[in-house]
Amino acid sequence: MIAEWLDIGPVDQLPALGARTLPVQGGEEIAIFRTANGQVYALINKCPHKHGPLSQGIVHDTTVTCPLHNWRISLLTGEALGEDKGCVPVIPVKIDGGSILIGRREALQGMA
Ligand code: FES
Repeated sequence: MIAEWLDIGPVDQLPALGARTLPVQGGEEIAIFRTANGQVYALINKCPHKHGPLSQGIVHDTTVTCPLHNWRISLLTGEALGEDKGCVPVIPVKIDGGSILIGRREALQGMA
């Protein structure tokens, strides 16, 4: 049976306010973020504006600011905030036994 969740490594290796990327073979790269209070979120690593690498943005509360043109994207919904319109897919995350798990189906949905 294929597990529903993919273990992508220890949460300890992701510093608060940090981000890392996870390549998905044949699919879209995923960006994993950790907030100041230790929550972990994952989005497809593509800004809804012009595909800027969100993993290189600045995390503030539950938003990330795109490094290219400063759109603010919600880590909760993937939606652009403020005047900007657009949305990037959110990948479900849970922490189990100190490991970060992400939803397998959602992680692989970018695959053809
Ligand atoms: S590509 Fe992200 S704000 Fe333009």
